Amino acid sequence: MFDRIAHRYDFLNRTLSGGIDTWWRKKVRERLPERSGLALLDLATGTGDMLLSLMKDPRVERALGLDLSEGMLAFGKEKVARSPYAQSARLDVGDVMDLKAHRDSYDVATISFGIRNVLDVKEGLEEIRSTLRPGGRALILEFSAPTNPVFRPLYLFYLRNILPEIGGLISGDKSAYRYLNETIETFPSGEDFCALMREAGFVDVNATPLTFGIATIYQGDNPSAQGAEPDA
Ligand SMILES: C[S@@+](CC[C@H](N)C(=O)[O-])C[C@H]1O[C@@H](n2cnc3c(N)ncnc32)[C@H](O)[C@@H]1O
Repeated sequence: MFDRIAHRYDFLNRTLSGGIDTWWRKKVRERLPERSGLALLDLATGTGDMLLSLMKDPRVERALGLDLSEGMLAFGKEKVARSPYAQSARLDVGDVMDLKAHRDSYDVATISFGIRNVLDVKEGLEEIRSTLRPGGRALILEFSAPTNPVFRPLYLFYLRNILPEIGGLISGDKSAYRYLNETIETFPSGEDFCALMREAGFVDVNATPLTFGIATIYQGDNPSAQGAEPDA
């Protein structure tokens, strides 16, 4: 599905979010750990927007972006090559559900609008945590359904009726944008998602809703080497 829409993905992202996704990515960047020399892994990196936004912080020394879709990666690789980070960032094919080759190697693991797509979320979160060094941080940006009783029905109307039409018109693939609204409505968010992160072994887990709760940043740390206990 992502191979099919790759050619319009960036344009649609900017259009359908009114450009606000760029601000959400900046909010994720502000949560990078304080220390410098960070090694970063961006999962489900797609066309690399999250990775390129995070690289703007000089504390990030090197970054690897992984994705299943060669079509999305082809656009991402071009963007990285044209960016100031061509020497320090790399994109490659890789599956969130199989990160054995990347165990215990990163200070930060990020995934934006990708965790919703993995087949087993808890297992995906465990894989993500396994890539982190002790004390490393996961930052997850994902759509969520707003809870405000006035805004929620308006937003759900947009998701169900307007978004698949515009997305279908521009990308030529209406089903991809139906898939988007169905997964946003059913995917665990807020405290439910935080509970999954704790089950996957993350500590200091928190959720920050953005823009009336239509997206949320989830943050969780891998326990430090001193043996911090996972949250209850
Ligand atoms: C909505 S796009 C998000 C792309 C990018 N992170 C962004 O913020 O624009 C979701 C991406 O997840 C990728 N994806 C889905 N399942 C995956 C998996 N198991 N492993 C790696 N990537 C996956 C898709 O190929 C697609 O590029």
